[in-house]
Amino acid sequence: MLSKGQIILAFDAYGTLLSTESIATRLASHFGPEKAANIAQEWRKYQLEYTWRLNSMNKYEPFSSVTQKSLQHALAESRVTLSSQEITSLMNAYNTLSLFPDVPPLFSHLKSNPHFHAVVFSNGTKAMISASLTQSPDLSPHAHVFEDVVVVEPVQRFKPCPEVYRYLCRKVGKEGKETDVWLISGNPFDVTGANAVGMRTCWVDRSGLGWVDELVDGEMGRPTMKVRGLDEVVSAVEAYVSKE
Ligand code: LAC
Repeated sequence: MLSKGQIILAFDAYGTLLSTESIATRLASHFGPEKAANIAQEWRKYQLEYTWRLNSMNKYEPFSSVTQKSLQHALAESRVTLSSQEITSLMNAYNTLSLFPDVPPLFSHLKSNPHFHAVVFSNGTKAMISASLTQSPDLSPHAHVFEDVVVVEPVQRFKPCPEVYRYLCRKVGKEGKETDVWLISGNPFDVTGANAVGMRTCWVDRSGLGWVDELVDGEMGRPTMKVRGLDEVVSAVEAYVSKE
């Protein structure tokens, strides 16, 4: 049970802890590296687009189904096909995505900092995230640093619908104390979604390009802070909250 004064660090999964680009290696065995990189990129793009379309249509399908359908869309657009067995094998590979290289130092920082409580917060289904935590060779040895896994399934909406961030705050015992909950995400749409319910946000700018998302005006349209990798998160948030 979390105590009231504690800071929650809620880590987005895909694109923040787990690299969806690493699936390109699998696709490369079928289509060669260049085409594979393109399909992996389009797959991710349609995966997110499908979630936003479902939100707009007041419909919900599990992220596993969204992920499979968007793969099929990306393959068809590249004019290639895979057998149903190969699709199943790619979907299984989604459960063992690689960590970004800056993630491992985060685990020791979290272990040595008892003020922060880490959870995973994802569009992924419980089954998908649990599989990553137990089967990913990079992630599974450190899975215990996450005290909980909060997924959007019970809300039947995807990020950035405000309900899913409110659900997260409730689940971690921070309803009405949203500023104690930090979303750590590499996805700008996720950052502005969390800002909208009063959470704090730490954007992971791995490319170093800087913030280019223009959708939301003013402070709510920017992260509370930004880092270049997850290895910087604990000290950056610590420095921010100690000044308050
Ligand atoms: C997630 C999506 C944003 O893990 O990738 O929630």
